[in-house]
Amino acid sequence: MTDVPRLEDLADHLDLRGKSVLLRADFNVPIADGEITDDLRIRAALPTMRWLLDAGTRVTACTHLGRPKGKPDPRFSVEPVRSRLAELVPEVTLVDNLRFDPGETSNDPAFVRQLIAGHDAFVNDAFGASHRSHASIVGPPQFLPSAAGRLLEREVEVLGGLRNNPKRPFVAVMGGSKVSDKLAVIESLLDVVDSLIIGGGMCFTFLKAKGHSIGASLCEDDMVDTCRRLLAGPKPIHLPIDITAMGPGGKLFEPEAGGEVRQMGASLPDGWMGVDIGPGTAAEFGDLIHEAGTVLWNGPMGVFEDPRFAGGTGAVAHAMAECRAFTIVGGGDSAAAAKQFGVDKDMDHVSTGGGASLELIENGDLPGLAALRGAPNVKQEA
Ligand code: 3PG
Repeated sequence: MTDVPRLEDLADHLDLRGKSVLLRADFNVPIADGEITDDLRIRAALPTMRWLLDAGTRVTACTHLGRPKGKPDPRFSVEPVRSRLAELVPEVTLVDNLRFDPGETSNDPAFVRQLIAGHDAFVNDAFGASHRSHASIVGPPQFLPSAAGRLLEREVEVLGGLRNNPKRPFVAVMGGSKVSDKLAVIESLLDVVDSLIIGGGMCFTFLKAKGHSIGASLCEDDMVDTCRRLLAGPKPIHLPIDITAMGPGGKLFEPEAGGEVRQMGASLPDGWMGVDIGPGTAAEFGDLIHEAGTVLWNGPMGVFEDPRFAGGTGAVAHAMAECRAFTIVGGGDSAAAAKQFGVDKDMDHVSTGGGASLELIENGDLPGLAALRGAPNVKQEA
């Protein structure tokens, strides 16, 4: 169930003019040397903040930033976010990093009371954190009239809607290093997709399950049987037919360290490490993407941050940008990759959530959404 109350539902329930709104946002942005390196998550929440201001409310935003351990820590100061907000929406105030208080992650009722004090309504626009049962996510809707902001609403519509009539063929492209991290979402996707493409570090556990030698590539030995079972299932799973591999002595991000880089077939000799899909695979995956009606992409095809191994991820990113399908990038590393290859604006939807997007696809619901459905302004079924 993803039918959460929207901003309009909140306005129907409550005359918002002059009211104080607590906005839970996910401003957990990358920061280097005190500078925000990607403000996507701040810009993505602007429509909600502007809607609330236009409705005549006073907006107090709150967010977590990084993973401080329940006490103030200058390394996780929200000051850079506050400065960016002051440029974009100066009317919005931002409180301290929520995780400076241990009550946030432990969902302490006393911290919830402290958060909601003085506010008349609550809006959750923190999609990226809505899979956490933390105080600021699940607490306020127990007491205040609440709604999903625009960003959360759109994420739920796109990702939550993938199960209901996606345009077919529906192709999922999965990458990243570990099968175990994504097993649950892969199993759940296999129910709805027409085919699954596997690249990235996780492809080597699948290739091993198919009987290939994988040299010194990443492998989760305890997942080989699981991969074998998935490969025997009814849905086609496409694995690389060739690999870009780095020879003995080579080091990631250190081309000067030596070590040969070579295109190989799907089996690698001892000591060679697979670090990207090969050009033949990139072309084949590109064809599948071009024929699709819906493409969901989660996880890079190789170590794209090292320019020597960026080819496969770049090929998927460009195929998605050029194809006619409805294209969804599932947050995290793939969103960073789409940006690096300059195609983020060509996607139909780039999720602001990493773990949250996977959990929503997998379970069709999130703790933050369930909490909003229980808010006092939502008519409860008898
Ligand atoms: C994210 O970056 O995925 C969200 O902000 C959630 O952060 P967390 O994994 O620290 O809860």
